Amino acid sequence: MGRIDQETIRRILDTADIVEVVSDFVSLKRRGANYVGLCPFHNERTPSFSVNRAKGFCHCFSCHKGGGPVNFLMELEQLSYVEALRYLAKKYNIEIKEEELSAQEREAASQRESMLAANEFAMRRFETNMTNTDDGRDIGLAYFRERGINEASIRKFHLGYAIDRSADLLDAARAEGFSDDILVATGLEVRTDDGRMYDRFKGRVMYPVLSLSGKIVAFGGRTLRNDKNIAKYVNSPESKIYSKSRELYGLYQSRQAIAKKDRCILVEGYMDVISMHQSGIENVVASSGTALTEGQIRLIRRFTPNITVIYDSDAAGIKASLRSIDLLLAEGMNVKILSLPDGDDPDSFAQTHSASEVEEYLAANEVDFIKFKTDILLKESGNSDPLQRARVVQDILRSIAVIPDNIVRQAYIQETGRHLSMPDTVLALQVDKIRAENAIENDKRAAQQRNREQFESRRTEEQKRDELDLARHAAATVPVSPPAAATDAEARARKRHTYYCFKPERALLTLVLRYGMMRLCEVYDQDGNSTPMNVIEYVSSEFEYDNFCFETPEFAAVWNSVVEIFKSPQREADYNSFMQSARARFDENMRKGTEEIRHTANDIDDIHRLELALREECNAKLNKETEDFEADYISKALINSPDDVLRNVTSELVCEIQPLSKIHSKYAPVADDRERLTDLVPGAMSALKNAILECEYDAIREKLAAASDSPDEYLPLMARQQQLKQMIKEMAHYLGDRIIPPRYKF
Ligand code: UTP
Ligand code: MN
Repeated sequence: MGRIDQETIRRILDTADIVEVVSDFVSLKRRGANYVGLCPFHNERTPSFSVNRAKGFCHCFSCHKGGGPVNFLMELEQLSYVEALRYLAKKYNIEIKEEELSAQEREAASQRESMLAANEFAMRRFETNMTNTDDGRDIGLAYFRERGINEASIRKFHLGYAIDRSADLLDAARAEGFSDDILVATGLEVRTDDGRMYDRFKGRVMYPVLSLSGKIVAFGGRTLRNDKNIAKYVNSPESKIYSKSRELYGLYQSRQAIAKKDRCILVEGYMDVISMHQSGIENVVASSGTALTEGQIRLIRRFTPNITVIYDSDAAGIKASLRSIDLLLAEGMNVKILSLPDGDDPDSFAQTHSASEVEEYLAANEVDFIKFKTDILLKESGNSDPLQRARVVQDILRSIAVIPDNIVRQAYIQETGRHLSMPDTVLALQVDKIRAENAIENDKRAAQQRNREQFESRRTEEQKRDELDLARHAAATVPVSPPAAATDAEARARKRHTYYCFKPERALLTLVLRYGMMRLCEVYDQDGNSTPMNVIEYVSSEFEYDNFCFETPEFAAVWNSVVEIFKSPQREADYNSFMQSARARFDENMRKGTEEIRHTANDIDDIHRLELALREECNAKLNKETEDFEADYISKALINSPDDVLRNVTSELVCEIQPLSKIHSKYAPVADDRERLTDLVPGAMSALKNAILECEYDAIREKLAAASDSPDEYLPLMARQQQLKQMIKEMAHYLGDRIIPPRYKF
């Protein structure tokens, strides 16, 4: 895989719309200027995930994950930066001009990436086998035809055929440059103990499993033989790119229909999904023959809380669906169950009925889980045995008890009461008792889990630090962090700096990132001419005059890039082209408005008055547009940067908007930060200067405590201490004030 050239990267990032990107993974609803949905990064039932189209980022107010389109994809789908760009390019049909990779770079391309590429290659080969080889046509394609699968479905699900030779895929993949290790890691090849390699799927028809982002993460291969000694399906093993419990077959092809219909239909097998699609029912996924997992349910819940489980009416099918039901209820899903006529599975049913017949059957025969359970359980025992009846009731109440929502629980209790002719109050009491028992059990389990996690997190903190270090070294264009502290004193100094200055630095940098290019004040020269000064220029001049800067390495790196972007000719060009189009819009609005006035005004005075108002309105619009452009330009440039430090720090500082407290926004008009820049920026600057003074004061105190009796040593220290004390006192006047703080040579 090649490198992507700068020009293309820019095009991709300019085109990517955060709302569209997120919508592929989460159902979003419009709320005011933002879109909201259930956070895909953590488990929740009320939406706290917010997407801001204008600013191009998303953010979870609960778990604080999010960022621009690239960060979102990287985090959610565990992609690399380049993979995320490729995903976006594909989504927006942007052609990528590949730059050649050196041998070394090719080596370094991540294993994940190579594995995905190998699977992609294999899928294409299995597909083309079906049209371009005799075996493919006579065996593979013939099989699908016989099963009633048409060409469109074959293409939609990328069905294929693996030639029945041990090294068919192996030879082709090697010729394409895939290493044996990668082919084994994906499971496409099996390596025997004596080192021989053979194609795992040879002689099978192939069903690729696509992740939500459309990557081929695994395959299922079905044998065409009727031999009971051969596994009907062989599936890809778990790997770096495939975790069975976190994928659902068909979700990639079905997600839009699921969101649109606000319902997901769950079936068992590959063929069930495909046949249902072919008959026109497109909101279908399969758990692929195993019990549903929590991870899979959460995947579905991103798109809808409503699920219909279709089960085979054999004993195994019923057992599997009973297990799934409790898990679904516990995850807060609304569960319906549907049984098909005896001897039918979704595949055969869809093949023999039209879409509307299937829809009608669904509507008429879906039942809630209570009816389903009572019918099943009482069928086993007959209706008469009172003990058995009690057991059935207990079983149903256990299911109800796991439902998280109180109101839903009560509704089901009433339903059960009606169904089994028992008083609701008795049932409700019993449910409460079960819930209490469960709670104790859960607490125990949670404590164990916490212990495990604490252990884990210690490890991951370390890993994270390692990663950050790596990222810094990778970022050749920005200054890397200072070398590891050589001495104890140095380490202490750094710790002290973090204690005093980290937060003020963070606050100031946040303002720079959010409002960097916006005008802050006017500067007058000796002749009384004024020039506007923006936030970046103000912060720069303060840094220069007092000779200090951000010291937290990550912040310093971001600040340097901010200045670089601000000074770049690209920025100027972007600004000019923006102004040009903004002015054109202004002129157009004026022209249209004037024309309208000509048609509607009564006399010349009217015209004057209206034209004045029009000019004012158009000016306001132009100002607003300019302000938006200036406010977002810097952060937009950094939020999708290839540099991990720049991208992550910017995402964190820009996205983390404290949601307004309700009282605040309800009863008092809330001033926009933008309108308070002249308060906020000098205030943040004062706070940082104050922190630096206090930090030094603290250091001097420590030095004094350790100083010898020699006046030569302690007198200068005391003098400096006095000086600092005075400065801190002076500073107090300015803290939180809108006056530009005093300048010190630090
Ligand atoms: P089924 O036996 O119902 O398969 O198993 P199917 O999809 O209906 O296939 P056809 O109609 O016989 O061609 C349901 C699912 O269980 C998994 C597969 O995912 C299958 O789609 N399975 C089944 C396996 O993984 N291995 C097996 O040996 C059998
Ligand atoms: Mn089947």
